[in-house]
Amino acid sequence: MNDVRTIVILTGAGISAESGLATFRGPGGLWEGHRVEDVCTPEALARDPALVHRFYDLRRAALREVAPNAAHLALARLDADWAGELLIVTQNVDDLHERAGASRLLHMHGELTSALCAGCEARVRWPDPLPPGAACASCGAPALRPDIVFFGEMPYEMERIERALAGCDLFVSIGTSGAVYPAAGFVQLANHYGARTLELNLEPSGGSGWFDESRMGAASVLVPAWVEEILR
Ligand code: APR
Repeated sequence: MNDVRTIVILTGAGISAESGLATFRGPGGLWEGHRVEDVCTPEALARDPALVHRFYDLRRAALREVAPNAAHLALARLDADWAGELLIVTQNVDDLHERAGASRLLHMHGELTSALCAGCEARVRWPDPLPPGAACASCGAPALRPDIVFFGEMPYEMERIERALAGCDLFVSIGTSGAVYPAAGFVQLANHYGARTLELNLEPSGGSGWFDESRMGAASVLVPAWVEEILR
């Protein structure tokens, strides 16, 4: 891969699984009898804000119990040592990439440690429990909600992501089932623009057929090995 200069990496829940955070569609993907998909919608927030806020309060609190694993650390090393362009696009709302030290990072589905004003769209750091109806410091509206992109909402920074995909030489997808668009379509976009595409996942995913190469195994093993290879 001597000709690679520009890399885009997409990560999903699988990269944080070995840190102890449950994935969405594997075992443990249910919460208090609700399908996770049924809690992460604008409709659920309107119908039962206390339930939705409690769900994210618990997940935010869980961040304190976990630490980055070898896969996050390897990507942080790549971020530090890769002289070319790099963008890590994560679908994860945990903060394990940044705690590992990665900075060329974008959270396309929002962040647990941030709150969003449903009124003026201000985003503020919010590491604590977030009660429904908390007031926004910018506009005063009692409208702070978890800064999470719900099903049916547009992910953050799509233009920047599409530009990066259009200009990359290599697209690497790590620990994602390829079940949720638009992220599931990034491999097709990268292919379309002529990038090489590589998947690192525990098992074949919905998108496996689109990748030039798929390697199956645990992220904590596959990611450090690939980073070693690309930096060599
Ligand atoms: N190493 C590598 N891959 C793993 C590991 C592991 N240790 N453990 C699980 N996986 C893989 C699973 O095989 C699965 O293909 O990670 C993938 C996780 O898939 P999902 O649970 O569907 O998570 P993700 O793809 O991130 O979900 C996308 O869906 O609910 C929404 O917004 C939420 O960002 C999320 C989006």
